[in-house]
Amino acid sequence: MSTRHFDPVGGLRGELRAPPDKSISHRAALVGAMGEGRTRVEGYLDAGDTRSTLAAVRALGAEVKLVGSSTPASRADSGHRGRAARVDRAPGASGPLPTAIDVEIEGIGLRGPGSRFVGDEVEIDVGNAGTLLRILPGWLAGQDQGRWRLDGDESIRKRAVDRVAVPLREMGAEVECREGCLPPLRIAGAGLHGITYELPVASAQVKSCLLIAGLLARGGTEVLEPAPTRDHTERMLRAAGVEVSSEERTRLPTSMPPKRISVGPTERIEPGPIKVPGDFSSAAFPLVASLIVPGSRIAITGVGLNPTRIGLLGVLNRMGASATADQGEPAGLEPQGTIVSGHGPLQGVRVAAHEAALTIDELPLIALAGCFAEGDTIITGAAELRRKESDRIGAVAEGLRALGATIEELPDGLAVTGTEGLRGGRFDSRGDHRLAMLGIVAGLGSREGVEVVGVEAAEISYPHLAADLASLAGGAPE
Ligand code: S3P
Repeated sequence: MSTRHFDPVGGLRGELRAPPDKSISHRAALVGAMGEGRTRVEGYLDAGDTRSTLAAVRALGAEVKLVGSSTPASRADSGHRGRAARVDRAPGASGPLPTAIDVEIEGIGLRGPGSRFVGDEVEIDVGNAGTLLRILPGWLAGQDQGRWRLDGDESIRKRAVDRVAVPLREMGAEVECREGCLPPLRIAGAGLHGITYELPVASAQVKSCLLIAGLLARGGTEVLEPAPTRDHTERMLRAAGVEVSSEERTRLPTSMPPKRISVGPTERIEPGPIKVPGDFSSAAFPLVASLIVPGSRIAITGVGLNPTRIGLLGVLNRMGASATADQGEPAGLEPQGTIVSGHGPLQGVRVAAHEAALTIDELPLIALAGCFAEGDTIITGAAELRRKESDRIGAVAEGLRALGATIEELPDGLAVTGTEGLRGGRFDSRGDHRLAMLGIVAGLGSREGVEVVGVEAAEISYPHLAADLASLAGGAPE
């Protein structure tokens, strides 16, 4: 485990390109492998989690070729975090990051894992990737035959998979897990039948798992969301020729209502070329850094602006932050554009349950911004945060308190009282990538600097965050 010190900086200035989207990269690899023929994925994220997904589809028989990048091929081949070489960028450098690679995936077809299965149970190492652990079972459970065992690192072994095991079993799947429904997860291919399933908790991972299982099931499969969740899977399946119907449910008085999404039995899918936009959730780290470091003004280009991902912008607007997004050319199926943001006074804000799913990965950053705001920032309805790579409610409260924050843990959220910044100190990532990155950003905005323990966890989704921030800190003044 490595520890690194992040000192306060005088201002972040200049332009930065967002690294590729992790959620969309996972889905592109899986949908490409499910497809007939070759799928080209442009701008795939070359980071720990998404390497695990390439390794998983390879283990199932799909061929994956690196066809272009500024990254050596050997890095795209390694399946685990921690092995990635760090490629620090020159100060002031802009343009595409070396985390973006172009890959070609030779699909094995929707029923490929079963038809190719011979012999013993196939081991699949999901590494640290919760999204892979939850989406892949939907594809495997619906195969005619075959046996698979999904396992991962120490942190993945603490992440319950009941949310997918329960509905998959209802569809007729054979799924086994350890006590508490913890991984390893064993799946045996079985005939499935479609169900109508109301998600007990809004989750795009569970929704995606069930929609993919629905392609292989007899009869129709319907998933009802209690609150809106990211819709990348629906977009990608539709583009691959699947009839995905999506109706608004009108239960909540919000501008973005939750949906009822359905699919039916499907013979084959033909994904066209897939373009991966920049990751809004990764861009959120330099974005919030620019809000809390005095003298900052930055532009982040190539950021995915799918409406189901950008809830943070609405929250920051209510905080009075200077942060705007401008749509540019879409990246294939996904809207994309530039975010311009800068330092200024912030007000405390309330984030309620209906916004939680749309800002779920960004809630720790809202708590951090709250430390620099005037008044209280209260986040509720986000109990789901306790089930991420770490218990992010407990970890954020304890971690930011150690840096001088006035912050309390709520059963389903966080309460922060702004104190015009943070002193600094030691911050433990607990092996969670979003916490490692929170610690880095906190260091830049603090008065005395932050020592981030376990900083290498950032390699799971945004290996170059520290280098990108360093280049903005050395960037030319406007
Ligand atoms: C993701 C969905 C979210 C999010 C995770 C990625 C996805 O999880 O927190 O980082 O790619 O579908 P849930 O679906 O469990 O909310």
